[in-house]
Amino acid sequence: MTGASLQKVESNRGPFDLGDDLSYRAWRERKLAAYPRSIHELVVEIADPAALTPTEHAAIRERCARANMAIYVLTGAPRDERAQRAAVLALGPQLGLTAVEDHRSRDNDGLVAIEVVETGGRLGYIPYTSRPIAWHTDGYYNFHGPERAVQAMLLHCVRDADGGDNRLLDHEIAYIRLRDDDPGHIAALMHPEAMSIPENVEPDGKVRPVNVGPVFYIDPRAGALGMRYTARTRSIAWRDDAATQRAVAALTRILADEPLTLSTRMRPGMGLVCNNVLHDRTGFADGASGGRLVYRIRYHGIIA
Ligand SMILES: [Fe+2]
Repeated sequence: MTGASLQKVESNRGPFDLGDDLSYRAWRERKLAAYPRSIHELVVEIADPAALTPTEHAAIRERCARANMAIYVLTGAPRDERAQRAAVLALGPQLGLTAVEDHRSRDNDGLVAIEVVETGGRLGYIPYTSRPIAWHTDGYYNFHGPERAVQAMLLHCVRDADGGDNRLLDHEIAYIRLRDDDPGHIAALMHPEAMSIPENVEPDGKVRPVNVGPVFYIDPRAGALGMRYTARTRSIAWRDDAATQRAVAALTRILADEPLTLSTRMRPGMGLVCNNVLHDRTGFADGASGGRLVYRIRYHGIIA
């Protein structure tokens, strides 16, 4: 083996390589020791999302390093919707997020309003109803290689509701639980055909072709672990072999009772910034302030 190819093999090893248990063990210990035990540990107060102070910036990155997510709470007086929209758009680039996902429901600036709709292109999709949403990562149905996956996203609550709570779990914790249970689960879920989303004909007649990819993948640029997943049982086809079926069943069990799962109900002026962690949402009814409104923006690339 030449020096160059030897170096390549070595650089591929690391905590997410099933052949490198030493790296995995060391990374796992650090990860579990640092992981937040309470939602409060994730919270960072910020004055203006459009202009983070160095302290706020460092605090968000520190939470993301530990848990791949941070929750911000805006201090000060509530702003109008337009100002909040502008502030959310300005937040991502300060965290290194610049490549906005091209989503069917996005406005020109990339922001998607998550609210209950009665008409229009968002009609017929669960996020735009008041129904619960099962565990998932964002954009799992739109995977075109690690470079074009949804790796980060922001949620910003403008109006809350009675319900609409989110559970949150760093996908790296799910990875740890699966690998500890059986490294074969990881091998099955890293298979490039582990999970298929069948073709979808949209209300306007446009066809979204079948989307096939792994559950866990490594971003070759950052060496970061990414995950695409949905707990939905409709409009999803798992690879038809025993190892995949066992891995999916194990993941379902883990998500049902993982003690490191954190839960929150976002209030107006609160937001989530994350490297596309696992999350769900309870159903809700409109609160006193009118219909629930959450802005969402998704990115390729991670909060490093
Ligand atoms: Fe989501």
